[in-house]
Amino acid sequence: LQVVMQLFLTVCWLLPYSLATCGLFSRRLSSASGPGPKVCIVGGGPAGFYTAQHLLKARDDMVVDVYERLPVPFGLVRFGVAPDHPEVKNVINTFTQTAQHERCYFYGNVNVGTDVSVEELRKAYHAVVLSYGAEANRSMRVSGEGLAGVFSARDFVGWYNGLPSNKELQPHLNCETVVILGQGNVALDVARILLSPLDLLKKTDITQHALDTLAASRVRRVLIVGRRGPLQIACTIKEVREMINLPDTAADMLPADFESISEALKDLPRPRKRLTELMMKTVKTESGQHKANKSWGFRFLRSPLEVLPGPDGKRVAGIRLAVNKLEGSGEDAKAVPTGQTEDLECGMVISSIGYKSLPIDPCVPFDPRSAIVPNNMGRVKDTAGLYCSGWVKRGPTGVIATTMNDSFDTARMLLKDMDSGMLNLSVNKPGGQEITALLKERGVRAVSFPEWEKINLEEVRRGTAVGKPREKFLDVKDMLAVAWS
Ligand SMILES: Cc1cc2nc3c(=O)[nH]c(=O)nc-3n(C[C@H](O)[C@H](O)[C@H](O)COP(=O)(O)OP(=O)(O)OC[C@H]3O[C@@H](n4cnc5c(N)ncnc54)[C@H](O)[C@@H]3O)c2cc1C
Ligand SMILES: NC(=O)c1ccc[n+]([C@@H]2O[C@H](COP(=O)([O-])OP(=O)(O)OC[C@H]3O[C@@H](n4cnc5c(N)ncnc54)[C@H](OP(=O)(O)O)[C@@H]3O)[C@@H](O)[C@H]2O)c1
Ligand SMILES: *[C@@H]1O[C@H](CO)[C@@H](O)[C@H](O)[C@H]1NC(C)=O
Ligand SMILES: *[C@@H]1O[C@H](CO)[C@@H](O)[C@H](O)[C@H]1NC(C)=O
Ligand SMILES: *[C@@H]1O[C@H](CO)[C@@H](O)[C@H](O)[C@H]1NC(C)=O
Ligand SMILES: *[C@@H]1O[C@H](CO)[C@@H](O)[C@H](O)[C@H]1NC(C)=O
Repeated sequence: LQVVMQLFLTVCWLLPYSLATCGLFSRRLSSASGPGPKVCIVGGGPAGFYTAQHLLKARDDMVVDVYERLPVPFGLVRFGVAPDHPEVKNVINTFTQTAQHERCYFYGNVNVGTDVSVEELRKAYHAVVLSYGAEANRSMRVSGEGLAGVFSARDFVGWYNGLPSNKELQPHLNCETVVILGQGNVALDVARILLSPLDLLKKTDITQHALDTLAASRVRRVLIVGRRGPLQIACTIKEVREMINLPDTAADMLPADFESISEALKDLPRPRKRLTELMMKTVKTESGQHKANKSWGFRFLRSPLEVLPGPDGKRVAGIRLAVNKLEGSGEDAKAVPTGQTEDLECGMVISSIGYKSLPIDPCVPFDPRSAIVPNNMGRVKDTAGLYCSGWVKRGPTGVIATTMNDSFDTARMLLKDMDSGMLNLSVNKPGGQEITALLKERGVRAVSFPEWEKINLEEVRRGTAVGKPREKFLDVKDMLAVAWS
């Protein structure tokens, strides 16, 4: 009888696991306790989902839980990528497959560092991966930054993409000239949104309030200002071509900027060479044409010195720039001020000089100078069992494919540490069960992936009604109401 009882108990214990492998019960079991390694990921953007994907694929006993501050997943793919680049967002399909994996569980609406500490996560899991991105903006550190009409690109992008914390931004587009500082792809996203015909934007998932504001826009001229020269711009050729192809919008470049660079052309690496040739061709064919109503242009060798107020002392009316010269050449050339200055008149300034990670928890090492979590190929310095991937690991540069590569690297490092015994897997860890209990005590209710899918469906429904792929909710409160309805 004893043997039969033993057998019965074993079957009872194993049954749910074998069912889970068949895909049944998957949701309920995904964060269950049980043997096998448990990994926690902080942040549900590309880095989080790519790290999870690689871990789940590598071991069939691995459980991966993803914690995300917002009730909605996908990070900058939802809140950064421009609305008129829908093809970029196809990665969401892959992330969704990962989230629906039987050994993956998504906890939205959980702010790590506030609702639960990294220490608590480290106790509950065999390993914790920080993938929380770079959510702040780099500051220009010039006076006048606080004037009305001065925005960071981070906030402006968040506003047109429906980031809840930016819904009150209210940029008044009642001026003719906008100056954007920085010449990366984010700067070009912002310039393109400001100058695109409304009919194109109407068919995207740009928020309705942004569309209404853009419909009343008087902006006709966008200058994209860089501290270095044409051979150092940070944006890529596809994005420049999109600017050149904007309807009713001329490129307004200064031919003198390109006069001395033709001899450098032949020695450039191929992508840089093609980008430079495109700009030079544009200068030749377009400058001096005034048929179009709107214009955009690069301005080079200029650093912001001071944002200038208008007569009321409150609103921006211009910007004072330091005139630079280049020291050295190529990608590493340095901008050095000549002592000269130049003022540009404008009614709006958008600073697009990069994003910045913030420290998440006092117990996690953070390098304030480079604004990243210090790490050795994904292993956080001096902290066993803690890893990082994505922008918080590398800094705020690189496209989604770069983030994918580096997330796979971090996952490989973690797996190696499991294999080598550096991470002790013989200790059983409670994982998501313990954290869920903690959160419940604290009155925090997580949004599961099926609950996000309810939000998703409702957004798509609202969008279809107005000919858009989706109409995003702007309020966390509204997202939660739908999730838990
Ligand atoms: C405006 C903009 C446009 C871009 N466009 C493109 C493009 O067209 N094509 C392309 O390939 N790349 C593009 N990129 C780059 C791409 O978005 C990044 O490479 C990628 O998103 C970085 O991934 P990540 O996961 O490190 O960070 P993120 O995408 O920022 O994800 C981090 C996640 O962590 C969450 N989080 C933050 N703090 C916490 C916390 N305390 N607790 C829990 N969760 C937290 C955030 O809510 C977020 O969901 C763009 C970037 C920007 C800024
Ligand atoms: N379509 C796309 O694929 C797409 C769209 C958006 C973003 N992204 C990616 O996302 C990443 C982030 O984009 P990003 O545009 O924020 O960053 P970025 O590409 O690093 O560009 C930042 C720009 O700001 C300038 N800058 C930095 N600090 C400055 C300062 N103190 N004063 C003046 N200028 C300063 C830089 O000039 P210096 O070169 O002189 O430092 C550079 O021109 C990039 O890798 C980008 O490719 C991709
Ligand atoms: C950017 O961030 C800083 C804080 O780091 C803030 O003071 C500033 O107002 C923000 N905006 C701009 C336009 O830089
Ligand atoms: C330019 O603007 C004027 C007045 O706003 C308008 O009448 C004209 O059609 C526009 N031109 C083009 C090419 O769209
Ligand atoms: C990613 O890694 C692959 C393989 O190592 C490489 O071929 C590719 O260029 C990388 N992509 C990026 C954007 O870094
Ligand atoms: C792993 O943990 C178990 C249980 O606490 C312990 O007995 C064992 O010695 C540990 N192994 C290593 C390599 O630290």
